Amino acid sequence: MRHFVIAGVLVIAVAILAYMGLNAVHLMPVEASTQSVSIDWMWNLMLMAMSFLFALIAVPMFYSLVVFKRKKGDTTDAKHIEGNTPLEITWTVIPLFVVVIFAYLGAGNLADVVRSTPGAMVVKVTGSQWNWSFQYPDYGGFTSSELYLPVNKAVHLEMTSIDVIHSFWVPEFRVKQDLVPGRVTELQITPTLDGNYKVRCSELCGTGHYKMEQPVVVVDNAKFTAWVADQQAVAAKQQATPEGRGQKIYETFCIACHSIDGSTGIAPTWRGLYDSQVKLSDGSTVTANDEYILNSIKEPASQVVNGFPAMSFKYQAAGITADQLNDILAYIKTLK
Ligand code: CUA
Repeated sequence: MRHFVIAGVLVIAVAILAYMGLNAVHLMPVEASTQSVSIDWMWNLMLMAMSFLFALIAVPMFYSLVVFKRKKGDTTDAKHIEGNTPLEITWTVIPLFVVVIFAYLGAGNLADVVRSTPGAMVVKVTGSQWNWSFQYPDYGGFTSSELYLPVNKAVHLEMTSIDVIHSFWVPEFRVKQDLVPGRVTELQITPTLDGNYKVRCSELCGTGHYKMEQPVVVVDNAKFTAWVADQQAVAAKQQATPEGRGQKIYETFCIACHSIDGSTGIAPTWRGLYDSQVKLSDGSTVTANDEYILNSIKEPASQVVNGFPAMSFKYQAAGITADQLNDILAYIKTLK
């Protein structure tokens, strides 16, 4: 009996220390959304259960190793124990009960996290290799490469991909969701803390996966309204000319691979491309005229530039029309 009391006290002490230790190392970043409160509550409960189970297993084990160590000169056999039915029932029923409780709490928690708020602001998220694009249909449909969100306002993300599976993840918001080609997936976020965060892709999506990170900015309502007005003005100006429209498409879809400053990335730069001589992987050389550039967008694998991988970009999947192809061409012509 004395051993049970001592081991019991040690289990409680070690459980508390393990829980305090896990809390002290700050396993989670700041809590920046309503959804993260639910998730963190559940996470905290799991930390408590883990700490207790760790102590429940480790303490009796080490206690037995130390206290019941074989005495010097003792060569007798240990007591033979056939089994203990009450004990086996107990250690089956209690864990089963605990798992069912966690499943119940987890289901309720998941329902909280995915519940949509009526009147939420819609942002359309498009993932592509290797870029995020955010469109604001509630404000005229301009697109941005940064996800700007007003604080304390519910946001409903409608997400899709134009090529492979990507995954939207902002750790400070806690929630994460895949973007699947041909499907629209959803995510509910209500940011609660101003600040600069980052959306990162958490699905291995090709050679540029590691750099698929873009800013997420949570600001107060006034700043958000000002940002929207700015974006609308820029969009209106850009929409007025073919070059401007082409630039917008470039910034939405092409910027991840093609530079406009002459530097080499995953794909050839657009600076000085028009009318230049391009060496292809089959050894031939072509002039980068209208026909070549349009063909390279439509059939990226047909004329591959020497030293670069074939692009897999599908312009129709990105919603780019034939007129917009000419806008891109007009933009490329300005990059002398
Ligand atoms: Cu997109 Cu990884």
